[in-house]
Formats: sequence, C-alpha cells, structure tokens
Amino acid sequence: MHIHFDDLNLRAKMVGQANGLTPEEISLHSPKALEALNGFRKISEAGAQGFPHLPFQTQVAEDILGFAEEVRGSFDTLCLVGIGGSALGAWALDCGLRGPHPVQPAFSARNPRLVILDNVDPAFTAAALNSMSPEKTFTVVVAKSGSTAETVATFLIVRDWMGRKPGRQARNRIAAVTTAGAGDLNALAQAEGYPQFAIPKNVGGRFSVLSPVGLLPAALIGLDIRGILKGAAAVTEDCWQPDLEKNLALRAALFHYLVWTLKHKSIQVAFPYSNQLWGAAFWFRQLWAESLGKAKSRQGAEIHAGQTPVAALGATDQHSQVQLYAEGPNDKVFTFWAVEEFAGPGKIPEAGLNLEAFDYLGGQTLAQLIDVERRSTAAALVEAGRPNCTFTLQKVDPEHLGAFLQLMEFQTAFMGELLDINAFDQEGVELGKKFTYGLMGRKGFEPYRDRFQRYEKRRQSAG
Ligand code: PA5
Repeated sequence: MHIHFDDLNLRAKMVGQANGLTPEEISLHSPKALEALNGFRKISEAGAQGFPHLPFQTQVAEDILGFAEEVRGSFDTLCLVGIGGSALGAWALDCGLRGPHPVQPAFSARNPRLVILDNVDPAFTAAALNSMSPEKTFTVVVAKSGSTAETVATFLIVRDWMGRKPGRQARNRIAAVTTAGAGDLNALAQAEGYPQFAIPKNVGGRFSVLSPVGLLPAALIGLDIRGILKGAAAVTEDCWQPDLEKNLALRAALFHYLVWTLKHKSIQVAFPYSNQLWGAAFWFRQLWAESLGKAKSRQGAEIHAGQTPVAALGATDQHSQVQLYAEGPNDKVFTFWAVEEFAGPGKIPEAGLNLEAFDYLGGQTLAQLIDVERRSTAAALVEAGRPNCTFTLQKVDPEHLGAFLQLMEFQTAFMGELLDINAFDQEGVELGKKFTYGLMGRKGFEPYRDRFQRYEKRRQSAG
C-alpha cells in the first residue's frame, strides 16, 4: 500500500512568492507542526477524541461481520437513514469500493443496493420508497444524538412503511447505530428490539466513518471492512511520527495552513481524478468545513477561521470549473487526489479513421489520459500562479481508502491545532436546529420559537 503527498507546486519556486511558500517560511513555521502533533496527541491520549483508536477496535468489526452474515441474503436494499457525519462516510465507502451510481454491479440479495435517506425532501423520500420493497429492505438508522429531526422524521416514515410494528422480525429488518445507553433512538431500539451498535462517546459524526456508523452499512453491502481498518491502522502509526516526510497528514496540514494563512488561499478545492473518490470528496467537504469553520479560538478570541472546501471532479470539471480556477480570483489552493492503478486501463481502440482528432488517441488508454489531464491541469494552474498539491493513492481498494479517510481526519485534527480552535464541536449549526425544534413544536424549545418570531417581525419592518 502506498499514498504520497506532493507539495512542490505549493512552493514559491513554482508559483511565485506571492502565492507559494519560500524555504524560509517553511522552516520558520515547521516547529508549529510538532506542536500540533503533540497537542493532538495529548487530546487523544486523554481520551477526549477517539477516532485515532477506531482502526484498532477489531472486535467491533468482528461483531458487525457476524451480524451481517446472520442477516445477509434476506434483503436486496439497504436503506440508511442518517444525515451529515451519520451518512457521508457510508456513501464514501460505497462509492469508493463498489463504484459510483449508476454503474455499480447489478444489485441482488448478495449485492444489496444502498439507498441513503439523508434529506427531508418529500419528493426524494417518496421516490426512494417507491423504488424499494418493504419486504426486501433492511434499514439502518444512524444518529449519535438519537434526536436529529431529519433522521427521526425520515425514520418514522420508513418504520411505518416497513410495517408499523416489526415485532419478532425486528432483528432481521432494522438496526440502530447510536450512543450506547443514551438518547431517544436508543430507547426506541430497546423498546422495539432492534440490534444496536454503539458510537463511542468520544467520536463525533464526521470522524466516525471507521466506527459502526460507516462499518455496519459497509459490511451489510458486502464491503471488506477488515481491509478498510487494516489500511487505516497502518496510516495511524505514520500519523503519530514527528518526521514530516513520513507523516503525510502533518505535512499536508502544515502546508495547507501556511498557504492559507500566509498566501490568503481561503478556499480549498478537493479535486479527485477518480469517480470512485467522488463520495470521499463530499465526505471531506463536511469534515473540513464543520471542523475548521469556527468563530472563536480556544482562548475565546473572535477569529472567524475557516477554509471553504469545494469538491470538483477531474477530468469532468475541467470543462466546468477550471476557467474560474485559472483566471478568477487567486484565492484557492487545489488538492488533487490521483490514482495510479485503475481496475482496468481502458484501452482506446486504434480505429484508423484518418481523422486527426481521433487517430492519435488510438492504442493509448483512459488511465493515461486521465493522468495526463490531471498533470496538465496542475501545470496550467502553476503557470497562472495557482498553488496546488497532490495526494496519490496507488489504487482505490479497502486498504487505501481506509488509510486515506483516516489520513484526512488526522490532517483535519492537526489543522485544528495549528489554528488553535476546537475542531470537534459544531456550535454554529445549533441555533438553526433549535429554531427548527421550536417551530416544529418540540417541548422545551418555545424560547427559540419566540426568538424566531422576533426575527420574522424584524424582516417585516425592514421590508
Ligand atoms: O459531524 C457531526 O457531528 C454532524 O455532522 C452530525 O454527524 C450530524 O449533525 C448528525 O448528527 P446525529 O448523528 O446526531 O444525527
């Protein structure tokens, strides 16, 4: 297994001093990386954050595999009800390891379709239910809090659609992933007899892909979760190394931090050149945005930190976004995600058509073309003074994907340390949630309903 990080195009020698890092800047700020490593090590060792330990919880994986074996064959659709960190990890794994929809291998009871209900759009929900059969669906409901309005509302609909009281059959039809012994989802699961899988208290939603949040759905659709954990465990060892050459997560965090804070690149474009990594790009978008977008430093100073993550797909988005990237505001850093070995090279036939635009491609491969497209885009961005860097995965298989997701989580945690923020909370989403509870009539949230009404009045008088 190998993953590389190429930071050369982030350097002043390539993109000029206004946009790239000088050797002096790198050596001046490198000690901060070690401080970040030690800072996060303390947090992890104190047990405050648990994601670094997840790859080593092999018994959890064995329990999940045992359960998956028990129920496999009885459903052709896995319906995942969850949102945010409770949904995106499963999507990243499915897209990475079975391929993006709609080009996955034919679905069957041995290869169930994964339907992720992560929105309360009524048209989407109705269409999804219409596309599934209640007798042949296994539902996994995921909510760490056990009370997220979108998940609860959707699950009530799905539970009803599956047959109001699953009763003795519950074990073969619904499973819950939530905090052990706490919350209303846990209470319902106990009352109705759903098997439960625990999310560790010290693992937040966007850092939970290697817990049952990602692993249970992955195992139920037949993915190799042992391989995923094996890759993640190997990279975890590297992520604790102080040597920046060995510790890609720390080096990538430092370089992204410097190019952001010294060269004002407030947007990061995550740019996979692989449809299989497209789900991971969306997963990463949440990880980076929710972890690093913070009003205050840990000391309470108002800083409004955050680097806006954008997901773009190569080569497709070269024909959609690259015009802006090359000529628009120089406020972005581009992080390419490259793959060395694809499942097949995609040989382009030699058709001998005597047509200039066709004939030169014959005999070459799509793998060559996508690689050349990425390197050409990187070169064009360098010529325009746009800093970019590249993670390269040897291939997209369970080990590499598990390793890459874990690497991204470490990178995010280190970036939180460099910025001196709490990367693990999400206060900014709370107020909107509370307004929603108040407006939908949840007990105890009346003050938020009143506050919302005051806002409505202000709008009326402003209009
Ligand atoms: O990363 C996070 O913590 C959030 O995105 C949560 O995953 C999301 O809000 C869903 O929360 P819950 O699992 O409690 O339904």
